[in-house]
Amino acid sequence: MKIDHRTLRFGVIGDPIAQSKSPVMMNRAFEAVGINGIYMAFHVRPEMLKAAVDGIRGLGLRGVNVTIPHKLAVMAYLDEIDEAAQVIGAVNTIVNDDGKLTGYNTDGIGYVRSLKEETGVQIRGKRILLLGAGGAARGVAYALAKEQPEQIWIANRTAERAAQLAQALRPYGSVDGMGLEGLDDIKHKVDIVINTTSVGMHPQIDERPADPRMFPQGAVLSDLIYNPLKTRWLLEAEESGYRIHGGLGMFVYQGAYAFEYWTGKQAPVDVMREAVEQALR
Ligand code: ATR
Repeated sequence: MKIDHRTLRFGVIGDPIAQSKSPVMMNRAFEAVGINGIYMAFHVRPEMLKAAVDGIRGLGLRGVNVTIPHKLAVMAYLDEIDEAAQVIGAVNTIVNDDGKLTGYNTDGIGYVRSLKEETGVQIRGKRILLLGAGGAARGVAYALAKEQPEQIWIANRTAERAAQLAQALRPYGSVDGMGLEGLDDIKHKVDIVINTTSVGMHPQIDERPADPRMFPQGAVLSDLIYNPLKTRWLLEAEESGYRIHGGLGMFVYQGAYAFEYWTGKQAPVDVMREAVEQALR
């Protein structure tokens, strides 16, 4: 596709940004769908965040993804924030409509779509355990709560943080927080267990957030981490016969939703997944 005055401009802002797989995934998506668009990585330090957001308006970028550490801070500079992003307290996708910037969070809904499509499990009526209560847990827990599970438990090393997140989500469903010692009381009741902590992420690939074997055999064990594609938590679970679900799909679908918000076209998820897998190899 020729780059000209009609080319739609997109990007991702973060600090650091070199590791981001979004450019390769999104550019491949535009190519596959035949959109004259270009997606770039922008290294934006915190002190330049406001200038960068003004630049979205000034230069007429159609859409921008936001990654660490700007997901919370960027909210102050937008014109409108979607309800889910408000509750979650983080924006990862900005849509620019003629200078009016709206912030969304597609991480949580991306995770839910990935879990459903890749495992076939229904979330409605299920009992779900989240390990961890940080930024990643917030989006996922909110999106899960909207799917009417029977119960969500959040277990975190710092119990207070789990309690706070549970409290914030209580308007949306039955959510309880606890410290890791609380696992003993609920571990035999869970249908889906999700690692939302950073434990097991590259380069600390020998760590795991818990022993997967403490959960019932029929449970689905899931991880938000996609580097490595299978964490130790998932490898051990798989060896022990559990159904497993890795984090790559969450990354692909958060991007797919952003793509759809920006272009109004269905995202080519298979092409996107292939592009990220290739980049991770
Ligand atoms: P993110 O945005 O990736 O979720 P975060 O907000 O820093 O990052 O949250 C990291 C999560 O991983 C938290 O739940 C953290 O537990 P604490 O709230 O107790 O800090 C969890 N975590 C990180 N390292 C951990 C470890 N070694 N053991 C257990 N939990 C850990």
